[in-house]
Parts: sequence; C-alpha cells; structure tokens
Amino acid sequence: MPVEAFNKFESRDLLAEALSDRIAELLDLDFASGAFASIALSGGSTPKGVLDRLGSKLGANREMIYFAMVDERNVPPDDDRSNEKMIRNHLGLQQHPSSEFLSLYVDKQDAAGAAEIAHEKLLADEELPFDVVTLGMGTDGHTASFFPGGDNLKAATDPGTQKLFMPMLAPGAEEPRITLTLPPIATAKNLFLHIEGDQKLAVFEEALKDGPADDMPIRHILRHPDVKLQVYWAG
Ligand code: 6PG
Repeated sequence: MPVEAFNKFESRDLLAEALSDRIAELLDLDFASGAFASIALSGGSTPKGVLDRLGSKLGANREMIYFAMVDERNVPPDDDRSNEKMIRNHLGLQQHPSSEFLSLYVDKQDAAGAAEIAHEKLLADEELPFDVVTLGMGTDGHTASFFPGGDNLKAATDPGTQKLFMPMLAPGAEEPRITLTLPPIATAKNLFLHIEGDQKLAVFEEALKDGPADDMPIRHILRHPDVKLQVYWAG
C-alpha cells in the first residue's frame, strides 16, 4: 500500500503539534550520527502552523540541517508569493546561511534556467535521499508543482528521469514554477502529505481510485512502487 498511515486529528493545532514533533524527531536521529539531516519542504499556506512549531523544536540543531524546497514560484524571495520567504519566516530561518538552504529562485533566470542550476547544486551537495519530504495538495489534485495540464508534467513524473528539478508552466499555477521531479520525492526516507479540510479529503479519496494519473497528478506519487506515504489530515 502506498499509504502507510492515515493520521486524522481533531484539530489543525493538534496536527501541527504532532507533525512537527515527528519531523523534529526524525531529523534528530540524523544529528545523532553526526551527519547533516536533509529536508525538502512544500510551500503554500497549509504548512505554516507546522513550520512555526518545527522552528522552535529544532533549536540549535538547525545548523545541522540541509533545507530544500519541493517547489517554488519563480518570484524573488522578497515577494509575498515566494515559498522561500514563507518557509524562512515561519521556521525562523531568516539568518540561516544560504549554503544550507537550497534556493530555487535565481536572479535573472527563467524557471528553466533556475531548475537546471538547482539540479546541479543538489547533485553536488550530495544530500539525497532526503531524510524528510513534506507534500501538500491542491483541490485540483496537484502536488509539488505537478499540475494537471502542466507543460512538463510527463517529464517531471517520469520515474526514470535523471533530472532532480524541472520547470513547470500550468493553467492552474499563477506563475512559472520550479519543482522537484518524482524520483527525489519518491525516494525520501520519510514522505509526508499534509492536507486539511473536507474538500481536500474528498479529493484525496478520489485520487486513490482508478483514473488517469495526469488528471490528478498526486496519483503519480500514490502509484509509485517505492512510496510509503504518511498522511496527516485535520478537518
Ligand atoms: C505551492 C506548493 C503546492 C502546495 C499546494 C497546496 O507552491 O503552492 O508547494 O504544491 O503544497 O498548492 O497549497 P495550499 O496549502 O496553499 O492549499
């Protein structure tokens, strides 16, 4: 089963407490071995409560973490649509050395150029597989920037692609995106999906049914043979 556990919570606060505890615990296991732990975080609005709590739980250990992002909107990091801005603000990482935070926005680069630079950087940094990857989901069934109708959806969800990041243009995305491809997400040691509300629960249940994966691209994750997904949901 691709869904290893479906964790339901009475409230979004309880979910945020539990998920931030779990992520901090997993990253701690790596500190114990003296290695850098690595995490790729999703943006959007849902993760804010988890990131607020995670930031304080990591404490000084944050210096031993390699932070990456699952996807980014191709906007400068001071733009309110920037996932990097949201993640840094909520984790309390404004001062974190840039070498340990893999930015996906590159000044004067389009999404294709930025994706290529991020691919090379992540390869060189040798932080794969990620210890933790967190995913969100849109009500159109997208996850990461695997959007229905995305121009690079086929390529980015090809389980055999050698690319770690790709650009994505899609009708449902406001701006060009840069996204992790399927392999670095599917090979994460711990993969979490964090969704909230009845509407997203219904979309997720629909995604578990048969039907074209490209119509609800989260199915590319759900149908990957190596994926063991931990779902966290609150109404
Ligand atoms: C982004 C994402 C994206 C997100 C979903 C859910 O940049 O938007 O990383 O994949 O996880 O769109 O977003 P919400 O949490 O805002 O509903």
